[in-house]
Amino acid sequence: MNKPVHAAGDGLVTGATLVTLDGDAGYGLVEDGALAWRDGIIRFAGPRSELPAELAGDAIDAGGDCITPGLVDCHTHAVFAGDRAGEFEQRLQGADYEQIARAGGGIVSTVRHTRAASEDDLLAQSLQRARALLADGVTTLEIKSGYGLDFDNERKMLRVARQVGDELGIQVRTTFLGAHALPPEFAGNAEGYIDAVVDWLPRLHAEGLVDAVDAFCERIGFTLAQTRRVFEAARALGLPVKLHADQLSDGEGAALVAEFGGLSADHVEHTSVAGVAAMAEAGTVAVLLPGAFHVLRETQLPPLREFRARHVPMAVATDCNPGTSPLLSLRQAMQLACTHFRLTPEEALRGATVNGARALGLEDRGALRAGLRADFVRWRVRQPAELCYWLGGRLAEGVYAGGRRVA
Ligand code: NIG
Ligand code: FE
Repeated sequence: MNKPVHAAGDGLVTGATLVTLDGDAGYGLVEDGALAWRDGIIRFAGPRSELPAELAGDAIDAGGDCITPGLVDCHTHAVFAGDRAGEFEQRLQGADYEQIARAGGGIVSTVRHTRAASEDDLLAQSLQRARALLADGVTTLEIKSGYGLDFDNERKMLRVARQVGDELGIQVRTTFLGAHALPPEFAGNAEGYIDAVVDWLPRLHAEGLVDAVDAFCERIGFTLAQTRRVFEAARALGLPVKLHADQLSDGEGAALVAEFGGLSADHVEHTSVAGVAAMAEAGTVAVLLPGAFHVLRETQLPPLREFRARHVPMAVATDCNPGTSPLLSLRQAMQLACTHFRLTPEEALRGATVNGARALGLEDRGALRAGLRADFVRWRVRQPAELCYWLGGRLAEGVYAGGRRVA
């Protein structure tokens, strides 16, 4: 990839195969297309022959390459310190994720490393991962807290998340995930810990560090009632909610997040038909995380048929985290969504663009259309299905966020 150039947010590309995703179905392909943007906003996306004269001028010739909307990774834990490769080895020897967590490993082991890291060190480690995601097309990145589990360290994580966006010139959306795991100092006192989480939230929000609120509602996480308390605190501040729901068991998490009009229910492997119906009613997006499914060698598929039948939008994200999904490419997550969940490449691409944006409450991106942000990627591919077809490799030729080339 060439060195990034943070140039002015104006430009024109011609000779591209535009994958506009405009409309509710289909790739929205435009052969010999032109894409023009001003001040970081798309002004024209369509056939070159229809480019308005006032937008014509010096153009980059894409030589038939595909251009898609910038990818939106709507679920990551990309800010953390250390790694958990040792647990990966343990699991290959037969230990399972829940056992490791109950024995004081898992999330809490990353908490130890994250607490010990300085803000600068945490930023340096996190930037490395964010750069990899960016190099493979991500222009909007959601990052959760949840490895600090005390006020100062949750704050540190959220500050680092904001800095990642500033440093790379992409948009980062932050999600407060204080209710991720019970820290050792609250052992046996989950209610007391939720009191603390509910106390920290308005303070973090007052610093502009919180765009949304999440929780891990699970046997090894928090109960439905505890999750409800976190959601009520979010609602009191007007903050949208999302949820790690029904990943390892059906805890009725999807129905709860839908009850709160939540942006998304994530993982959702064990979500019941009633949960899907509640999501459809509320307009809650199903965020599929095939990386975690793959790494944990899960077998329970999300209720894909029901999602489709009830028109629940499906997003795809990396879940980039040190435990269950050390995945540094959203395109690879799209590939896994196709192979494991049988999404079509078109569904996977929509999942990593327009539906990912929706899972973050963002309506100004996710397609190539006049008026939307000029977030797009030029790929060295001839047809969009290739984005899900190649395993690994580097396909992005140029990544643009807000009209500026960032990779
Ligand atoms: O999305 N399920 C909880 N959270 C993460 C895993 C975090 C970890 O193991 O560090 C997930 O899979
Ligand atoms: Fe997650």
